[in-house]
Amino acid sequence: MARARVSLWAICMLRLALATVYFQEEFLDGEHWRNRWVQSTNDSQFGHFRISSGKFYGHKEKDKGLQTTQNSRFYALSARFPTFSNKGRNLVIQYTVKHEQKMDCGGGYIKVFPSDLDQRALNRNSQYYIMFGPDICGFDVKKVHVILYFKNQYHENKKPIRCKVDAFTHLYSLTLRPDLSYEVKIDGQSIESGSIEYDWNLTSLKKMEKTSSEPPDWGQVEGSEAQGWEKHFLDAGASKPSDWNSELDGDWLQKPPYEDGLKAKGIDRDVWLHQKMKPASYLTQYDLSEFENIGVIGLELWQVRSGTIFDNFLITDDEEYADRFGKATWGETKGPEKEMDAVQAKEEVKKAREEDEEELRTGKPHRHNHFNNFHRQREL
Ligand SMILES: *[C@@H]1O[C@H](CO)[C@@H](O)[C@H](O)[C@H]1NC(C)=O
Ligand SMILES: *[C@@H]1O[C@H](CO)[C@@H](O)[C@H](O)[C@H]1NC(C)=O
Repeated sequence: MARARVSLWAICMLRLALATVYFQEEFLDGEHWRNRWVQSTNDSQFGHFRISSGKFYGHKEKDKGLQTTQNSRFYALSARFPTFSNKGRNLVIQYTVKHEQKMDCGGGYIKVFPSDLDQRALNRNSQYYIMFGPDICGFDVKKVHVILYFKNQYHENKKPIRCKVDAFTHLYSLTLRPDLSYEVKIDGQSIESGSIEYDWNLTSLKKMEKTSSEPPDWGQVEGSEAQGWEKHFLDAGASKPSDWNSELDGDWLQKPPYEDGLKAKGIDRDVWLHQKMKPASYLTQYDLSEFENIGVIGLELWQVRSGTIFDNFLITDDEEYADRFGKATWGETKGPEKEMDAVQAKEEVKKAREEDEEELRTGKPHRHNHFNNFHRQREL
């Protein structure tokens, strides 16, 4: 029994050891976050953040995060980490966000930037790789954005994903995988998943690729080795055409050859024949899932009513690690947070009733705002 437990523990440790954590931020060291996060000076009117766990929380210290403090402001704050590429690896981006004010209109999303971003100049037009998270405005906009930047264009997710609109802390996770699948989780539950190719508007990209892509000169291809050959590989899932002749056309490749560790040499012809059969598909998985120089995470958004708290940022290549981190942070404090809110709501009702009674007795009207707490439970 003990042995089994030890080996299970060893496996867990091994898994954790294998996870690469590119960025993790919980704001547990007081004001030191100011050494890690850079406020943009592009506009002196940009709003300021402070560290706070808010009016109600699950744990006063652990729930401290970046809170927006000024109404009707743009915000632009970012933090840098060692540059990496997600090529051939999973990419998980995760954080918590809490709109404890009544969020009427404002962003609750994060942006992930290339490492060459000038943090002091960060503004609305700064090019990003990924924008992810909730956006709320009035009754019309209550969505989770997943905007990806490929081939000099932003691509918005076509499938609508509804965000949480209550005042509690929620955990948002986005996973992009090298096989071109993706997953969006809210509070640890899978909300949307599928194929990056199909769930983003990438048809125009394909056309662009097609017109710019000429059949190669076979003599040159031989010499140019693997130069760009991956780019010419297409739909890995295509089935073998009925008229495929192995003698003439070469072996049918079910999978991208690099998955089998094969070299480019000698297969270029098959690849190009394959491409001829399916002219609609020209993109490789790397074209649609790879960001070369990921290096900065930022909050660049607009809020009408401030008070939103961002916390527990994580960028990793390990989905399991992200799940554990989510459970250890949001998972631990979500329950107590709801309890504290319920206690406060009860107290406010009690106070309001006392004030009403006082009013009846003395005839003096009181100004009170005991409705503040009720909206938290309900959707806006
Ligand atoms: C702010 O950003 C804009 C757009 O990038 C740029 O034109 C402008 O010079 C910047 N202003 C300052 C003060 O950095
Ligand atoms: C898809 O992309 C094309 C070309 O860029 C554009 O004209 C079209 O409006 C886009 N469709 C959606 C739903 O975004």
